[in-house]
Amino acid sequence: MSDTSSRLLLALLAAFLVACEGATGPAGAPGRDGNDGSDGLPGKDASATCLSCHATAKMDVKYDEYHLSKHFTGTTSLNRNTKYCARCHTDQGFREITGAGTFVVNNDIPNATRITCGTCHKHSGFDFAVDTNTQILRTTSPVFLNYNRNLTATDFGKINNLCVTCHQIRGVTAERYTDSLGVIRTFNQLPFFPFPATKDDNAPVNYQVGQSFSVHDGNQSNLFKGINAYEYTGQTYTRTWQHSANSCTTCHMNTYDPIRKVGGHTLIPNQVACESCHDGARISTIQEAIDLKRIELGELLTARKVFRKSTNSSGVVSYSAVQTHDFYGRLFATTASTTLYATALVSANTVSPTTGLVVYGNTVTMATDANWATRIGRPWKYGELGAAYNYGYINSELSKGVHNPVYAMQVLQRSIDWLNANP
Ligand code: HEC
Ligand code: HEC
Ligand code: HEC
Ligand code: HEC
Ligand code: HEC
Ligand code: HEC
Repeated sequence: MSDTSSRLLLALLAAFLVACEGATGPAGAPGRDGNDGSDGLPGKDASATCLSCHATAKMDVKYDEYHLSKHFTGTTSLNRNTKYCARCHTDQGFREITGAGTFVVNNDIPNATRITCGTCHKHSGFDFAVDTNTQILRTTSPVFLNYNRNLTATDFGKINNLCVTCHQIRGVTAERYTDSLGVIRTFNQLPFFPFPATKDDNAPVNYQVGQSFSVHDGNQSNLFKGINAYEYTGQTYTRTWQHSANSCTTCHMNTYDPIRKVGGHTLIPNQVACESCHDGARISTIQEAIDLKRIELGELLTARKVFRKSTNSSGVVSYSAVQTHDFYGRLFATTASTTLYATALVSANTVSPTTGLVVYGNTVTMATDANWATRIGRPWKYGELGAAYNYGYINSELSKGVHNPVYAMQVLQRSIDWLNANP
């Protein structure tokens, strides 16, 4: 709801509460004021309670803060209002999946709007004495993780569950494809998840065209909790650290500073608040160390031809995983050849003539392989898949390990150690 319309609604609500006088006859003398409510009796002083949040000046400040956040400045258009994106990238999508308890929205939402106050906020009751902040949040329930449509909910802590419903690994973006004969078939784009607790790190595994182990940008929750990285057999991992008992909001919604435009609903941590305990250099030093470790892993994977390294026109280096097999499971050769491989799965969404809804599909592209020189020429080992996945787990997380420096460093270092021990 927009700010004017919610204020209008409040004004109407207030008017309704006050306007109960009869319309006929002269008005009587005003009655004496009622007694103030007292603690322990049912009922609340509505005006004061509501105004603690709804005072215009206070709401205006929240808007100012929110307008500085990426929830406001980010993008809803492009393709982020489509079926597999709208749940996290749009207001309507989030309302739909939290209301209906589904993993993805029913269909594209072409006119979807950005994340706003009412995306995160919803009154679940007016008994604020119970738990003020969760009374005004749309969801605080444990999260059914989206990436493998996990039916066991993970509890990240009350308010965290709101953030983590979006700030988590993305999950499928495709379920069907059209084969080279034009037949529509289904496939499992995410065949690797979840990683089994006991596994053979040396077992062979194909990484085929069309498959994905992508983590997406919203992985903060998993690192924060120290879970869902690829963990090597026989290793133990430390999941908690100094700030594990904090919530996302402890750092991301700390005291608002209107001068530096950080804290509060900007969601940018106000780092002055951190400096009461340790200086800013401490945080950037740890970020630099973790980022160097990430690059070390990227280089190691490139040397084995698990990754391919590229540098864009602005000089930014990136690493991407190189498929071992084509879409139909044929091993790519490491020399030039005239063989036609299923080299790509191209998005081919269509609109159903009967329902008018988008039908999601992908079409297999047959071509000779231009990338033979960067192919490994054998299946990966499971431990290589794990190392590649762990690279993405840290790289897409964006905090450079701040959310759990201990686990982040272990995840990277143990991947490097395993690769070195298993040439
Ligand atoms: C702890 C803070 C807080 C308190 C206290 C509070 N509200 Fe709200 N209320 C909100 C927020 C945040 C929103 C969402 C703002 C928006 O969408 O613009 C909201 C929205 C509303 C809406 C719009 C409808 C909706 O659910 O989106 C109404 C009506 C409303 N509040 C009435 C009240 C009344 C009446 C009281 C007092 C009994 C009250 N509120 C107390 C925070 C609060
Ligand atoms: C409805 C889904 C959703 C919820 C709920 C949500 N976020 Fe986000 N958040 C996003 C998306 C999507 C973006 C990226 C927006 C863009 O770039 O278009 C984002 C961006 C951010 C950013 C900025 C990242 C950057 O690259 O600058 C921060 C910080 C953030 N969110 C923190 C939080 C916190 C803390 C909470 C809980 C209080 C939260 N978010 C709740 C979806 C959500
Ligand atoms: C499970 C929730 C979720 C789903 C589903 C999801 N995203 Fe995101 N996405 C996020 C979050 C959270 C961020 C912000 C992370 C950050 O900036 O730290 C983000 C960031 C992004 C960014 C980078 C930020 C920017 O503004 O450039 C792009 C691009 C993006 N998403 C595209 C997509 C597309 C396309 C889809 C659908 C195919 C999709 N996302 C599905 C949660 C999700
Ligand atoms: C990304 C999710 C998110 C969005 C978007 C959001 N809020 Fe909030 N808001 C929260 C959370 C979480 C809290 C509780 C903060 C805490 O416990 O530290 C909160 C607290 C509040 C409070 C009560 C706390 C206080 O300081 O009195 C108000 C009022 C409020 N929000 C208003 C708004 C308004 C108005 C908007 C839109 C301009 C908005 N919020 C947008 C997540 C959000
Ligand atoms: C101990 C404090 C702390 C806690 C707790 C915390 N964060 Fe962060 N977060 C940070 C810092 C510091 C950064 C890095 C900001 C930077 O480098 O500019 C960050 C970065 C991020 C980013 C990327 C922002 C960007 O500009 O790229 C997102 C998104 C985010 N956090 C979301 C979350 C979510 C969701 C949670 C809860 C699961 C959370 N954070 C918990 C401190 C924290
Ligand atoms: C109440 C005190 C306190 C506040 C406030 C605080 N921290 Fe910490 N933090 C600690 C303690 C104690 C440690 C662990 C001991 C140490 O490494 O100094 C720590 C460690 C860390 C570490 C790991 C540092 C390392 O070298 O291993 C990071 C990263 C961190 N904090 C981030 C933050 C951020 C970001 C904020 C602000 C949003 C913040 N902290 C606010 C007390 C605090």
